[in-house]
Amino acid sequence: MDQSNVRPSGMERIIDYALAEKFINAQVLAIREQVGDGKVLLALSGGVDSSVVAALLIKAIGRQLVCVHVNHGLLRKGEPEQVIKVFRDEMDANLIYVDATDRFLGLLAGVADPERKRHIIGEEFIKVFAEEAAKLEGIHFLAQGTIYPDILESEKGIKAHHNVGGLPPELDFELVEPVKLLYKDEVRVVGKALGLPDGMVYRQPFPGPGLGVRCTGAITRERLEAVRESDAILREEFARNGLEGSVWQFFTIVPDYKSTGIKDGKRSFEWPVVIRAVNTRDAMSATVPDIPFPLLQHITERIVSEVAGVNRVLYDLTPKPTGTIEWE
Ligand code: XMP
Repeated sequence: MDQSNVRPSGMERIIDYALAEKFINAQVLAIREQVGDGKVLLALSGGVDSSVVAALLIKAIGRQLVCVHVNHGLLRKGEPEQVIKVFRDEMDANLIYVDATDRFLGLLAGVADPERKRHIIGEEFIKVFAEEAAKLEGIHFLAQGTIYPDILESEKGIKAHHNVGGLPPELDFELVEPVKLLYKDEVRVVGKALGLPDGMVYRQPFPGPGLGVRCTGAITRERLEAVRESDAILREEFARNGLEGSVWQFFTIVPDYKSTGIKDGKRSFEWPVVIRAVNTRDAMSATVPDIPFPLLQHITERIVSEVAGVNRVLYDLTPKPTGTIEWE
């Protein structure tokens, strides 16, 4: 293994602000030394890792960092807006926002197979990013939010993580990976110390293909909106009822299936929304938390009255195994 990818045995675990500050100051110097007055490109998804790398680089080199936020149309409600607010408005980042929704949804139209969907989303993401990179001049560095578990898992061949070697070879950049020796909890402490909002630092995991794997089968705009709106209601209610920090991951799924119901005194034939909530340590296995029944009833009332095209709500009681966390 490349020795720069090995966490030194004596390396202190970053558990508090003082240690985070020490790490940040050392990285700021290291980044400045590595890139000089060069420009650095970063794909900023708004997830914890890329957000922390962005904040760290902004502190070190300001507008020499060019962030590209690609909206593939499969993000949660309010996410692209939050990225723009935090980075462009509050941190004065050099941020390029690309709304590629039509491109992605066009390619995904009629595609029902989950693996094909994932493949299309992953490939197109790289294409959009590479196109943006090609428009810019004089960029020699690429920053990535690689963290230590990504390196360990890639070494063991567990997963071909998108952060490690996922870019096409024609993008000939030198990598800047300031958090590659940190564990996730350390990245969060550093993010807090850099002033990122809690909503970003303590964000629950969100898959790269986003809501695309929660709008099962062939994605349509209407059903995707039902996923996005029901997810927003679930997140709002979990936050309001103190479950945000105690449930590991929670979201909604809208299957490509309709059932009969009654709305406004008339027969309706609409989709169900499935609520998924899980607790886990490492996502290899998971249990289903006991959500208070009155809260589930309240969420159900809100979803069927506020989300267009939905007449039923279900709670997925399945642990992993046998069910995976995501439905696709
Ligand atoms: P599963 O569904 O495999 O999910 O039990 C385990 C964890 O991984 C996340 N997940 C993904 N993350 N790209 C990602 O970046 C993906 O394609 C993907 N699929 C699942 C899932 O949200 C859960 O936290």
